[in-house]
Amino acid sequence: MSGFRRFSIAFTLMIAAASGAAADFATKPWLQLGDNPRLSTPETVQVLWQTSDTQNKWSVEVAKGDPSAPWRKCEAPASVPLAAITSFTLHLWTANLADLEPGKPFRYRLRADGKTAFEATGAARKHDSKTRFVAFGDCGAETTGQQRIAYQASLLKPDYVFITGDIVYNYGLVSEYLRKYFPVYNADVAGPKSGAPLIRSTLFLAAPGNHDLLRADLNRSPDALGYYYYWSQPLNGPLTGDTTASITNLKGSDQAVAAFKAAAGSRWPRSANYSFDYGTVHWTVLDSNPYVDWSDRKLREWVDKDLESAKSAKWRIVAFHHPPFQSSKAHQKDQWMRLLADIFEKHKVSVVLAGHVHNYQRSHPLRFVADGTTQGVVQRQKDGQVPGTWTLDKTFDGATHTKPEGPLYIVSGAGGAGLYNADQQPKPNTWQPFTVKYIADKHSLTVVDVSDEAFEFQQISDRGETLDTFKITR
Ligand SMILES: [Fe+2]
Repeated sequence: MSGFRRFSIAFTLMIAAASGAAADFATKPWLQLGDNPRLSTPETVQVLWQTSDTQNKWSVEVAKGDPSAPWRKCEAPASVPLAAITSFTLHLWTANLADLEPGKPFRYRLRADGKTAFEATGAARKHDSKTRFVAFGDCGAETTGQQRIAYQASLLKPDYVFITGDIVYNYGLVSEYLRKYFPVYNADVAGPKSGAPLIRSTLFLAAPGNHDLLRADLNRSPDALGYYYYWSQPLNGPLTGDTTASITNLKGSDQAVAAFKAAAGSRWPRSANYSFDYGTVHWTVLDSNPYVDWSDRKLREWVDKDLESAKSAKWRIVAFHHPPFQSSKAHQKDQWMRLLADIFEKHKVSVVLAGHVHNYQRSHPLRFVADGTTQGVVQRQKDGQVPGTWTLDKTFDGATHTKPEGPLYIVSGAGGAGLYNADQQPKPNTWQPFTVKYIADKHSLTVVDVSDEAFEFQQISDRGETLDTFKITR
């Protein structure tokens, strides 16, 4: 981090502290699912926030949505200092909002030294079949496109939001989250030039992208790997710190690594892969970064078992950053997640959702056989490509023929960063044969209405235009 950047962040924090009343929010509160992968009654949601000192005595209270409902005190919040990894003082706080009624709105407030410092509303995870989620990726780039997408997401009032990776540019640093993530998705005022107060009220979940986890040299960037601090997600993935294979390996001095581990706790490396349920949808979320070997038998088994365990779920989605099937010239060789296509097909995954390529793409429903599959598990090639044969379901049109043969592969990576390969949009002859829609001249997000009968998709531009609609039934 440059000296100027360090100074400007420290200065911003000082201003925030000076202008706040009693409390010293470095970042206002945001909600997370925490380590709660499965639906449960009651539900629990976590609230996290950051302060630039520990002078205040914090407490958290929660109440039912009805304004006359009484407040009840939550367990005491816990904090970890991020001071060792940042050049300014930062403390990350977490509290559980427990005993929530599924699907019901709640109010919560943070009190500093007995005075209310922040109050917002949220909603516990829904168990019913009708839910709505928004997805986008490649977003935290400090652009007007990012702000407009955040604003459009807020207008759609989703139950939750999923980010398909590359959450914050360029390196997923804490200092970058402070500038490019929190101010946009937790803006006090909703608007196309600011963003929206989303994350204080709506659950956000994410898959890690290359920009989030590939800068793991803690000597060079002590505040790298912000993903492992700020995303409190289920800890039910296959990878623990017992192995060095297929995890985000840490580089740096013993001191820098120890500071990271102390602050990240059990989230590193476990939370890079996980699964969760929301309503009738089961999500399997994977780390598709190139250090993960998805031809590894144990890792494949974990995906297989996770999807098998969700066979009674009405809908299954798999989400990760690097798209297996996409048509842009950019990142064309990053195909290694094709290695899992057979498992997705076996378990009737409806949609595979990715980002990485900064545009929107939709495939025909497709089945894929990698070359060499008959000899057993296919090994990934050095250049990332996975040649093979696909079978396309061209009868599926998403309107009148809505039962797909095979998963649809969606790229939703137009959440704010500079768009890729718009020149290919009017030239379908430059698309791969499996691509049906390709929209690269506008930032956009995906919104999905889920019911027992259908998955109804819309792709919405950063100005609210509908760019694509289709429906999947079973
Ligand atoms: Fe990426």
